Formats: sequence, structure tokens, C-alpha cells
Amino acid sequence: MPQILLSEGPDQGVRLLTLNRPEALNALNTALLDVLSKELDAAEADPDTRAVVITGSERAFAAGADINEMAARDLVGMLEDPRTQHWARIARFTKPLITAVNGFCLGGGCELAMNGDIIIAGNNARFGQPEINLGIMPGAGGTQRLVRAVGQSLAMQMVLTGEPIGAERALDAGLVSEVCQPELTVERALAIARTIASKGPIAVQLAREAVQRAEDMDLAAGLRFERHAFTILAATDDRREGLDAFQNKRKPEFTGR
Ligand code: CAA
Repeated sequence: MPQILLSEGPDQGVRLLTLNRPEALNALNTALLDVLSKELDAAEADPDTRAVVITGSERAFAAGADINEMAARDLVGMLEDPRTQHWARIARFTKPLITAVNGFCLGGGCELAMNGDIIIAGNNARFGQPEINLGIMPGAGGTQRLVRAVGQSLAMQMVLTGEPIGAERALDAGLVSEVCQPELTVERALAIARTIASKGPIAVQLAREAVQRAEDMDLAAGLRFERHAFTILAATDDRREGLDAFQNKRKPEFTGR
């Protein structure tokens, strides 16, 4: 039986996870979310993994929750659904996460992509929340993360019509940070991840958290959090190393201390 999730690395600090259920356009069934959660546990525990890239195939990042699996669940089944725990696990991943998206990125697939700190899209990517066509609605962050990414008007249109947007529109709307040729999407995401992996990991962690908090906090609280995080970094070897390397015109060697 082929592996439904391929894991490579870490290479230069980056682990690459590839969703691999081509027969179902990488639909996210419980088994796939389960191995994804376990891979994220492993990536988090591994000090040599400084960033993670999640991708799918050129045809589909993921076409959503597995509809056949979902159809078999009644209300109690939904309440006891282990997938909720997997989504929570993905959301609380503590290292930089980049999603490299080609092709269909729909429903739970779009919700998974939006768990990425950065989304890189192939120009064939189609982002959408088509749940409304099934008589349901997004259930893994689609109504909340999409509106934060693209604003209420476009998010509302996508959620209520179910119609997807293309990569260029997603770029204009701020959902993705870059668009490239589909065959280059993963390479580009890996290059960005490697750049991040080469920085001081404590600074990366605190900077990432500060940016993430901008969505949940008012400005004054966010600025206070930023100031505290900035101050804490004064205690790190990596800050001394970074400043010294600049002053002595050499490349810094960060140790994570
Ligand atoms: N779940 C299960 N199987 C799926 C699937 C899904 N979400 N999406 C596609 N597949 C399967 C198809 O059933 C098909 O299988 P068979 O060959 O065995 O029939 C195979 O993948 C290929 O798909 P198509 O033949 O449909 O390919 P296409 O190119 O004609 O269409 C598509 C592609 C437009 C993405 C279409 O497959 C589609 O509309 N998929 C469903 C998209 C969707 O509604 N996603 C939301 C799911 S609900 C959700 O995600 C809830 C949540 O928020 C957590």
C-alpha cells in the first residue's frame, strides 16, 4: 500500500511533507490527518528541523475533507470526530510552516494551506471553500482564516458561492505571498524555508509568534508583546553573534542559544 504522506529531510534544516492520495486528489481523510499530525510532532521534537514545507501534487494540493468519509458520519460521529484534534495540532505547530500549493486547494485543503505561515502558489492553483455546494460550510477554519487573509467581502463571496479564485487573484487579495510556475512551487517554498532555517531559531520563533498575534490582539497589546519578545532576545548568544558578525563584516553562525 503506497504511503499517503511522504516525508523527506530535514535537509538544510527543512523537512518536506508531501500529501500522497492521488486517487482522491489528496482529500484529507482521518488517516492522512493522523500521519500529518505525527509528522508535525516529529518535526517539532527534532532540533535539526527548523522549518517545514507541506505540499501536494501538481494537480491538487488537496481537494478538501474526504467527502466519502464525512458522508458516513452523523451528528454524534461529527462530535466525536478525531479530525478536530488533528486540526488543532496543525494549528499549534511551533515552527515556521510553508504551504506550497498547486492545483485544487479546496475546502479542508484551503484550510490546511491557510495554516501555513506563508503560502506559495503555482499559477494553476485554485483556492476555494466549496462546502456550500454540499449543503454544509467550512469547518476547519475557513470562515475565520480566510476573512483575515482576504477581507470580508471576498471571503463572504467565496464561502457563500463556493466559487474558487485563481492564483493571481489570491496574490492580489493577500492570501498567498508569491505565484510561480507549478513545477517551481516546491523548490521556491523550500528555498524560502531554507533561508528561514539559516536564521537564529529563537529570533525566528519569537518573530513568528509576534506576527501571528497581530491578528488576535489590539495594537497596544501587540506592541507590548513585540517589545517584550524583542527584549528577551537580548539574552541570546545568537543576538551577540548576529550583531558581532555585522560589525566584523562576516557571516553569522547561529547556534540556537
Ligand atoms: N473527497 C473524496 N474524494 C474526492 C474529493 C473529496 N473531497 N475530491 C475529489 N475526489 C475524488 C473523486 O471522487 C474522484 O474519484 P473517482 O475517480 O474514484 O471517481 C477523484 O478524486 C478525481 O476527482 P474528479 O473526477 O472529480 O476530478 P475533476 O478534475 O473532474 O474535478 C474537483 C476535481 C473539482 C476538485 C472535484 O473532484 C470536486 O469538486 N471535489 C470536491 C471538492 C469539495 O467539495 N471539497 C470540499 C470538501 S468538504 C470540506 O472540506 C469540509 C471542511 O471544511 C473540513
